[in-house]
Amino acid sequence: MIQFAALAVLVIIAHPDDETLYSGFLHALTHKIGARVDLVCITNGEGGFRHSHASASIYGNLDLSNEKIARENLPRIRQKELLASGQILGIRKYFFYDQLDLKYSTEINDVLENQWNQVLVRQMLIETLKTGNGASGYDLMLVMLPNNQSHGHHTVSGLLALSTINELKLNRSTSIKIPTVLGGSEFVLNQAYNYSSNYFGEISFVEEKEFRFNRRWKLRKNSVAIDYQLIVLWSCSEHKSQGSLIPQTLTRLARENEQYFYFSLNKDVERFQFIENLFEQLIDIHR
Ligand SMILES: *[C@@H]1O[C@H](CO)[C@@H](O)[C@H](O)[C@H]1NC(C)=O
Ligand SMILES: *[C@@H]1O[C@H](CO)[C@@H](O)[C@H](O)[C@H]1NC(C)=O
Ligand SMILES: *[C@@H]1O[C@H](CO)[C@@H](O)[C@H](O)[C@H]1NC(C)=O
Repeated sequence: MIQFAALAVLVIIAHPDDETLYSGFLHALTHKIGARVDLVCITNGEGGFRHSHASASIYGNLDLSNEKIARENLPRIRQKELLASGQILGIRKYFFYDQLDLKYSTEINDVLENQWNQVLVRQMLIETLKTGNGASGYDLMLVMLPNNQSHGHHTVSGLLALSTINELKLNRSTSIKIPTVLGGSEFVLNQAYNYSSNYFGEISFVEEKEFRFNRRWKLRKNSVAIDYQLIVLWSCSEHKSQGSLIPQTLTRLARENEQYFYFSLNKDVERFQFIENLFEQLIDIHR
């Protein structure tokens, strides 16, 4: 507890609700380790209307299955949902980068060329790294592990964050603390996964060793019934405009372990040990 008391973490996600992939880890960081966790959400989430109809009566009977109405209203609605989920997870601060959530595509060039202003995203991220946690900066940055099966927004959010960190390193920036970067996997993986086929090059390479957060761990010792699945479902259920989130979380995205990977980009034995210690501490706490 003492060792990580001042740990500052910045989480980068693409849409409001992506944080639910990391619910167990984030909840434990804030509740068991005393970490400060801040969150960047890159898009405004307006494209997520496909399964919104079930929530209409909660949101003033708006016809959220109508694309135009949905795009006008979802940014506001989903922001609120994220704040509610974040309250459960213990998120301290939010940074909304308001990039366009135009459409689903696994094609990252489409996101970079037609959907987001990548120059602006990089600038905003640098600003967040510089000022988000005052002069202390962030110790750890959690990004979505780039994967070619994934929503292009997810992949690009991770790649842009990684390439910004890479640039800070190359520039030998001294005014900004460079956090250690971890990638949280959206999918259940049998082995570490290297995303490589793109012009971002090797920044996304990960080490073989994987770190796990087990959602079957109990929130309290001897509390047989209550494990982190509860937190996962609580955070998912705040995203009522996303009608398919809970069904997916229970089936396609169902997992016992959240999987986190250490990027080779961190290139530092001490940083690796820091992550190892952090996860060992989490295992100890929940033993
Ligand atoms: C995705 O990555 C896997 C594993 O690296 C590879 O076998 C596959 O061809 C890739 N698919 C695409 C569409 O790039
Ligand atoms: C790195 O340095 C270049 C040239 O000075 C500058 O344009 C760029 O914004 C810097 N990038 C970062 C991430 O600091
Ligand atoms: C990813 O690729 C790098 C560079 O080839 C390699 O060093 C590393 O071991 C790979 N990681 C995995 C998990 O395959």
